[in-house]
Amino acid sequence: MKVKVLVLGRLLQSLHEKLVEHAEIEYVDREAPLAQDMLMAHLKGKEAVISEPLDTISSELMDACPSLKLISNRAVGFDNVNLMQATQRSIVVTNTPGVLDAATADLAMALLLACARRICEADRYVRQGKWTGFKSDLMLGPDLFGKTAGIIGIGRIGQAFAQRARAFGLKLVYTRNAPRDEQDDKFKDEFHAQRVELEELLQRADFISIHCPLNSQTRHLIGQAELDRMKPECILINTARGAIIDQQALVSHLVQRRIYAAGLDVFENEPEVPQQLLELDNVVLLPHIGSACFETRRRMSELAVDAVIAAFSGSRPEHVVNADAWNQERWDLITKEHQTATSK
Ligand code: GLV
Repeated sequence: MKVKVLVLGRLLQSLHEKLVEHAEIEYVDREAPLAQDMLMAHLKGKEAVISEPLDTISSELMDACPSLKLISNRAVGFDNVNLMQATQRSIVVTNTPGVLDAATADLAMALLLACARRICEADRYVRQGKWTGFKSDLMLGPDLFGKTAGIIGIGRIGQAFAQRARAFGLKLVYTRNAPRDEQDDKFKDEFHAQRVELEELLQRADFISIHCPLNSQTRHLIGQAELDRMKPECILINTARGAIIDQQALVSHLVQRRIYAAGLDVFENEPEVPQQLLELDNVVLLPHIGSACFETRRRMSELAVDAVIAAFSGSRPEHVVNADAWNQERWDLITKEHQTATSK
């Protein structure tokens, strides 16, 4: 008996073919977040789901779908899944780290350049027919070279951003949620980066890029007080998760021009974007496309599909985020049950 899998979104044909060898697949391709009852209706009777940041996998959903054993989240972030509740129910959760670092760091750098050099604003200016000729004071913005970038969270994506920032001649400070260790020496050697406390980073950085995961410790990590500490010329970039910033506080800082600009690929209640942001020139707004490159998205999907195939073949998937939920004996049994049902 094949595994019953719900795929939220699409799969490339080659990956569909790979998965369909092992699974009976239902696809739900949705443009906007599905209401929980709709999601519930599709998830009923499924043993695995390939989900994305758009899909909230709540404890109610888990309760309503007792056959669910695996949530293969096609993203590195997994804040859309109630991890604690999944673990309590022995539902294994996997993600797709390592394959999207360069793409996401590229986008953070693109946002920084777009904000500093006012690229979107300048593009609108040309399209609107406002350009009358070269002017030495037209669309000025801050130089990058020689300035200081602050990196909040220096995991894989933060390090990829550090490499790019160094190439642009930026000095680096960073925060890290771990005790000091040899990694800090490595960052010093490799990026000439200095580890500081958040408060110091906020005060020293000309540009700040957020690269930490969203969890209970980082929700609203950047609030009113933190924004107050930033330099008025600071540019804030977020390609991580919207709720790491208190969005209301950020909007009011931007409206009052208390920081220079913001480049946002993520928002607190996606896909909602506050009207006030839409009206500002000093923000660049993107629809959560950090990893949206052909090769990167293919690799993410491959990892998500491979996790389903591995688990239901009795092998621990490569990227399990709730290690406690993986019980080899249980999965051996699940695999055996499937094989027995197939051979009948
Ligand atoms: C996308 O946002 C991801 O977490 O991979």
